[in-house]
Amino acid sequence: MDVSKLHQRLIEAGQGHLLQYWEELPSDQQLELVDELQGMDFAELNVFFQRAMKGFGLSANQEKVDARMEAVPKNVLGSATRDGDWLQEWEREGFSQISQNKVAVLLLAGGQGTRLGVTYPKGMYDVGLPSHKTLFQIQAERILRLQRSADEHHGTKCTIPWYIMTSGRTMESTKEFFRKHKYFGLRSEDVIFFQQGMLPAMSFDGQILLEEKGRVAMAPDGNGGLYRALGAHRIVEDMEQRGIECIHVYCVDNILVKVADPIFIGFCVKKGADCGAKVVEKTNPTEPVGVVCKVDGVYQVVEYSEITLATAQKRSADGRLMFNAGNIANHFFSLSFLREVVRVNEPQLQHHVAQKKIPYVDTQGQLIKPDKPNGIKMEKFVFDIFQFAKKFVVYEVLREEEFSPLKNADSQNGKDNPTTARHALMSLHHCWVLNAGGHFIDENGTRIPAIPLLKDANDLPIQCEISALVSYSGEGLEKYVNNREFHPPLLIDERGIHELVKNGL
Ligand code: UD1
Repeated sequence: MDVSKLHQRLIEAGQGHLLQYWEELPSDQQLELVDELQGMDFAELNVFFQRAMKGFGLSANQEKVDARMEAVPKNVLGSATRDGDWLQEWEREGFSQISQNKVAVLLLAGGQGTRLGVTYPKGMYDVGLPSHKTLFQIQAERILRLQRSADEHHGTKCTIPWYIMTSGRTMESTKEFFRKHKYFGLRSEDVIFFQQGMLPAMSFDGQILLEEKGRVAMAPDGNGGLYRALGAHRIVEDMEQRGIECIHVYCVDNILVKVADPIFIGFCVKKGADCGAKVVEKTNPTEPVGVVCKVDGVYQVVEYSEITLATAQKRSADGRLMFNAGNIANHFFSLSFLREVVRVNEPQLQHHVAQKKIPYVDTQGQLIKPDKPNGIKMEKFVFDIFQFAKKFVVYEVLREEEFSPLKNADSQNGKDNPTTARHALMSLHHCWVLNAGGHFIDENGTRIPAIPLLKDANDLPIQCEISALVSYSGEGLEKYVNNREFHPPLLIDERGIHELVKNGL
């Protein structure tokens, strides 16, 4: 194989070291490495690197950014608790959009789940619910339920297409999982997978790192890689052909996510918004959520890694955090906005820099595992396009109803792990049963006081799970539970009511 031309190109780009071990590699690895390097645009990578490092230098001077931050103004803010009078109207609008096949959902599932520490895609994770459903299945069933509800409301047959962005690392296993589970009851042609790009990890002076002698250290280009991937895979065109007008974009890890939430969609549509974000009130200054705010007069999310503690701790006169619009990574985009972003704005987005400890092969051929950051990964963020919105709105919801992300393994710390995710879902479903007139009893047949979030003698929440195929957000449960008593664990699904202990399940 003649690699002289490639070698020359690499030398010109200052990346000649990437072929240093070429002669030592077996022929299959030689082929793979050449393939990988041929596909790289080094001039572009260089521009990305320079711009990202420049931006990083600026954001290192964080006090200046903090001084330019303003909280979300009240006039763009809707609330699930304070706007009670409007909720029905927004919901009606959302269902109307859904029933006219105008709504799509788009899942960001290209992350590597490093903190959770699994080798498979996070969506395949089972947090240990009574049903043992995975995150993918829970989300699929919410889509199915909504389609059915919209059909019932409007007497039509509608579809909510589900676009799933994966990365080189997660594509095959994700697709295989969906095939194996028959798309969880959805039509396979309405589940559309597409792949985001990858970028090489670089040293602080712009050298691409090798993770093995014949392999470049590559990582997905961040969830904002979405916009480039939408263009590359002609996803916007697919949406146009299907007549989509509104897109709900969300992250894979939130077990409570209200996929294609009709209220959020209706709220955004009624406000004439081209872009919207759902938030929860951030109450703890160090919680790892970004905050939606304005910087220099345009909307943006300042990430938890980019805000100073002093700013995160600032409080308003009412005692609440000044920057309290906690981003839960649920976004609304109109298709025309998305089209414009993909065509015009995407190239202007610059990568954020994450300093990392990146294992690499050094010039002596040794694999080095650094104990402090030795390089960077470049990532775009999904919310970087808020700045281009003509009409931006924010919708605040209750954390206990809509946000419990799965980020960490159980062993790491007590937050955002499989246990907290499982408990959050069961506590919410416990509330739904109580609200619909049901009761729980203990092993002696005594009623457990109707206090939601009440833990049992073992300090666990009441075990209760309601399939999304039965109820999307607590509606329609009276016929199952009103005036009835249940022994936890209780599971209600499309086959009926299961009291798991009583039935020995
Ligand atoms: C994200 C938000 C943060 C928010 C928090 C709430 C971003 C950039 N940050 O932070 O503001 O408060 O969620 O839980 O959105 N992903 C890809 N491709 C990638 C990287 C990630 O698709 O290259 C996906 C992941 O699969 C996941 C989502 O993006 O679904 C969020 O990624 P993660 O790295 O967990 O974001 P956080 O840092 O937790």
